[in-house]
Amino acid sequence: MLTIDEITITDAALEQMSATPNPRLREVMAALVRHLHAFAREVDLKPEEWLEGIKFLTAVGQKCTEFRQEFILLSDTLGFSSLINALHDRRAIEAGTKSSLLGPFYRSDSPDLRLGDSIISNSRKPETVIYGRVVDSAGKGVANASVEVWQPDENGWYDLQLQDPSKMDLRGRFHTDAEGRYYFRTVVPTGYMIPMDGPVGDMIRAQKRHGYRPAHIHFLIGAPGYREVVTALYIEGDDHIESDTVFGVTESLVVGVKQKDPNSPIAGLPSIQFGFQLGELAGKAETGRVGADPSQIIAKADPAQIVAKAADSSH
Ligand SMILES: [Fe+2]
Repeated sequence: MLTIDEITITDAALEQMSATPNPRLREVMAALVRHLHAFAREVDLKPEEWLEGIKFLTAVGQKCTEFRQEFILLSDTLGFSSLINALHDRRAIEAGTKSSLLGPFYRSDSPDLRLGDSIISNSRKPETVIYGRVVDSAGKGVANASVEVWQPDENGWYDLQLQDPSKMDLRGRFHTDAEGRYYFRTVVPTGYMIPMDGPVGDMIRAQKRHGYRPAHIHFLIGAPGYREVVTALYIEGDDHIESDTVFGVTESLVVGVKQKDPNSPIAGLPSIQFGFQLGELAGKAETGRVGADPSQIIAKADPAQIVAKAADSSH
């Protein structure tokens, strides 16, 4: 009979899981157990620390609602979401715009708008134009590409964080014209502190981190036959551009606001120009979304469905 000790326990657990029919589930779970066990051995994890971890993860789950996703925030603040993005980008067969975080504030049902429309739900000023083209790897415009955009307001709040989160503001879905052009009006966002009133906030404070994200605008861009791009544009000059709490900023996604740009499609307003590039899709569509609408995650948190889905993907 096997003697269980701090080393043999890993093989014992792996042995029991070795008959998992789904090969990917088998691979992922085996690696998870190996690394989880190695982590506990490395830090010589104490029972009370293990319990603290369980309490923390329980609190993270309890903080999640259809409007808030504390687990995505945890993944983001650990650099895990950025890592998943980087791995996803590496699998591309053609270069595209670099990924950035989807974050916890994406909603799948943002309003359809026409090019040139404003995403501001009231008449706040001053407006800024954001414009550019969506092109393929050869630089040819991608017509009718879907361009979803969402951002915080000039005080750093997303609509999901305000009084009535069922009301939408500062988000919309556009479609590029025949030349791949997109343009819309908005307010320049400011940086914001991630939600600090939950367990992730407690963690950030315990680590003496500032908790800020530099000002940014989220984009989700897709077209049939192309790899979807999940990214964000970061406004240059922000105090936290070099120390984003969730590691979303990368140099190629930093943009400036121009006061007088002769190329802007709407004259008389400051503007931000950025061109997005979509790489060709290799075979089956693979989502690049490190995140989801919080309401969909809550809806999927049914153990029976998760098991059924894992069984499905083994075929
Ligand atoms: Fe954000």
